[in-house]
Amino acid sequence: MASKSSTLQNFTLLFLICIPFSSSIDFNYPAVFNFGDSNSDTGGLVAGVGDTLLPPNGQTYFKKPSGRFCDGRLIIDFLMDAMDLPYLNPYLDSIDAPSFKKGCDFAVAASTILPATANAVSPFSFGIQVAQFIRFKNRVLDLQPKGRKSDKYIPTVEVFQKGLYTFDIGQNDVAGAFYSKTYDQVIASIPTILAEFEAGIETLYDEGARNFWIHNTGPLGCLAQNIAKFGADPSKLDELGCVITHIQASKLFNLQLYALCKKLQGQYSDANVTHVDIFSIKSNLIANYSKYGFEQPIMACCGNGGPPLNYDSRITCGQTKVLNGTSVTVKACNDSTEYVNWDGIHYTEAANHFVASQILTGKYSDPPFADQMPFLLKLKF
Ligand SMILES: *[C@@H]1O[C@H](CO)[C@@H](O)[C@H](O)[C@H]1NC(C)=O
Ligand SMILES: *[C@@H]1O[C@H](CO)[C@@H](O)[C@H](O)[C@H]1NC(C)=O
Ligand SMILES: *[C@@H]1O[C@H](CO)[C@@H](O)[C@H](O)[C@H]1NC(C)=O
Ligand SMILES: *[C@@H]1O[C@H](CO)[C@@H](O)[C@H](O)[C@H]1NC(C)=O
Repeated sequence: MASKSSTLQNFTLLFLICIPFSSSIDFNYPAVFNFGDSNSDTGGLVAGVGDTLLPPNGQTYFKKPSGRFCDGRLIIDFLMDAMDLPYLNPYLDSIDAPSFKKGCDFAVAASTILPATANAVSPFSFGIQVAQFIRFKNRVLDLQPKGRKSDKYIPTVEVFQKGLYTFDIGQNDVAGAFYSKTYDQVIASIPTILAEFEAGIETLYDEGARNFWIHNTGPLGCLAQNIAKFGADPSKLDELGCVITHIQASKLFNLQLYALCKKLQGQYSDANVTHVDIFSIKSNLIANYSKYGFEQPIMACCGNGGPPLNYDSRITCGQTKVLNGTSVTVKACNDSTEYVNWDGIHYTEAANHFVASQILTGKYSDPPFADQMPFLLKLKF
């Protein structure tokens, strides 16, 4: 008995020692350039439009609002951890000479792939983000020969070819379209959205990018925001309580995005194009939440209105407003680790951690990378 338990303890110890080293082995990138929306915005919107995010955003990890629409870290933050790289600074953040040595985040909350409309929350659509990258790169090339002073803050030139280019965008094109279009019109617009995405990828390839990491979109019909607006009639909901049209649109967007990734894999024989199936990871989390230690798969942690959604489109997380003659302040739930959803639109840090850990199994990637992973890492998840 005694020897059995000490073997177990030794094994656990070995296990704990090995994980931090093994997780960074396969991701040996010198830098990350990220493009996207709020799913990977590390402060772009607040810097770019001078907006403020209020507490309790950030409360779990950064202990104050960090520009992320979350109580803590995002998927991209956990991926940076796995690569032993620092969290990405937003391109738009000009204060205090932020370091871009290990990469730069061009993602801005509310951004679309398609060019932004005049009244869009974020004017920084995908094409603009790509244009900003080109400006960023040109500025780096410009500063490079001068050396020294800027060395601390900017990447070296070879990083543009060796770096990882990550993408998580499309959610606002698909979910946003339902406010003004019929289901058929939303579906019909997908090829146009993806043509714009492809054009951006091609531009980056022409600029020297060779490692592409593309996330598909999540099960958008499971977000409280969409259920509140489009799911009042129970016949519009599936067995998980998610809006069927939005789930279907997410799936069709993803099928076409996957086809595009396969096409790019064939077309760019000197590049790595990795597709990551975020939809399956998030769907699994929502369907099997209790198995993964969560208690609420859909209800927002930080929202107004109480069960079943705790979501109120009139007021956002942390805001105080007079509603129906009463002053309301939107606070967080007691324990955000029990919730998949943070504010009705974005996931909690706990859920983002789960998604990132699933990504790192390699099982949701095309091409998969699990076979190259040290076996101890595989055991972890
Ligand atoms: C593609 O990825 C492999 C494995 O990570 C790496 O060895 C190779 O250099 C990458 N190709 C390019 C063009 O960067
Ligand atoms: C939930 O878990 C079951 C059992 O592991 C699995 O078969 C199913 O595919 C999961 N659901 C989703 C949506 O992934
Ligand atoms: C506010 O008042 C309107 C109209 O009386 C009512 O329909 C609505 O349910 C009220 N909302 C809340 C959150 O109390
Ligand atoms: C949150 O915690 C407070 C204090 O412990 C308790 O009174 C309240 O019922 C809790 N709320 C929920 C929703 O569990």
